Amino acid sequence: MSANSTLRAHYPWTKTPLVASAPMLNIATAPLSISVSEAGGLGFLAGGYDVSGLESKLEQAVQLIKQSTFRTRQVYASTGILPIGVGFLNWGADLTKSIAAIEKYRPCAVLFFGPNSIPDDLPWAEQVRAVTHGKTKIWVQVGTVAEAVAVAEALDPDVLVVQGSDAGGHGLARSASIITLVPEVKDALARRNVKAGIPLLAAGGIVDGRGMAASLALGASGAVMGTRFLASSEAAIASGYQAEVPRASDGGISTVRSTVYDRVRGILSWPARYDGRGIINRSYIDAVNGGMSDEENRALYQEELKKGDAGWGPNARLTTYAGTGVGLVDKKLPAAEVVANVIQEAKDTLQGLRI
Ligand SMILES: Cc1cc2nc3c(=O)[nH]c(=O)nc-3n(C[C@H](O)[C@H](O)[C@H](O)COP(=O)(O)O)c2cc1C
Repeated sequence: MSANSTLRAHYPWTKTPLVASAPMLNIATAPLSISVSEAGGLGFLAGGYDVSGLESKLEQAVQLIKQSTFRTRQVYASTGILPIGVGFLNWGADLTKSIAAIEKYRPCAVLFFGPNSIPDDLPWAEQVRAVTHGKTKIWVQVGTVAEAVAVAEALDPDVLVVQGSDAGGHGLARSASIITLVPEVKDALARRNVKAGIPLLAAGGIVDGRGMAASLALGASGAVMGTRFLASSEAAIASGYQAEVPRASDGGISTVRSTVYDRVRGILSWPARYDGRGIINRSYIDAVNGGMSDEENRALYQEELKKGDAGWGPNARLTTYAGTGVGLVDKKLPAAEVVANVIQEAKDTLQGLRI
């Protein structure tokens, strides 16, 4: 079976090419993920590293699906499989609680990201498969060729999400862009004859149909998009944060990869190989150009929180994770429009190529 046929067989409501929305921590809640799936994409709910609220988020998703007028409702009614995925940050998420939630709610996919080391998430893959009889598919987000090969060999994943350095939020500090990473991953798997036909989804810098078309040309079957969905109507995001995405342009200089944005929030448990890409603000400038201590920066961050929406902006301090694609996002849109636009524009772009 081709990678596209595999995706259509596993997620029958989805359109080609596949648009998946990223499980953005605190932002990708049930309304966003359900809207993306209803539009023919695959929405991921953020499970994150603290899964104590996961069951109530999944319960909300079930209620939304039951009221839905889209095909996703029939899929759920006839299969009992939730037409959304759940993303986990494996360095912190509790395995037992997560498995209990997956067994009860049966999402169509889980997305693993950020294990302390690669084989760490093997028990996750085994237990998810065991409690859902293989119905919940295993997606793993990787950021290097070596990670892709190691995951393919150890976990027998169903999908690899190949995350490049343009991605918003966390990713590997040492990383390549998808332009080299996707084809090199594909070649490496083919050479080793391990999971050679596995669907690859590109992640990092894709915010429109042109990026999607490029991803397909590189060998991916679709894309996982985060930054574009920050500026969607359904994102659970502060207005001050959301307004920064269409404001910022020229993402290579308006965003930066750094650990500062976690340090000022006191989030210190990410494995050392990760940092995060966010829009440059005072926290970063004071730390990197001004040599401000983490202690002082954290205290100022706490003060900034009291300002609410005014706490976000280039001269403010609150963390604004977003990718280099910010310059291509000019307005907030309903998630369904994002999905439809990306698919249509990708098709038009590919048809318009005359070489
Ligand atoms: C604000 C934000 C939060 C994110 N949180 C998560 C997360 O909790 N889990 C995860 O697997 N990926 C997370 N990501 C990364 C995405 O999975 C994905 O790799 C990235 O958004 C793709 O790049 P793009 O932002 O350029 O579309 C996050 C991304 C952003 C922008």
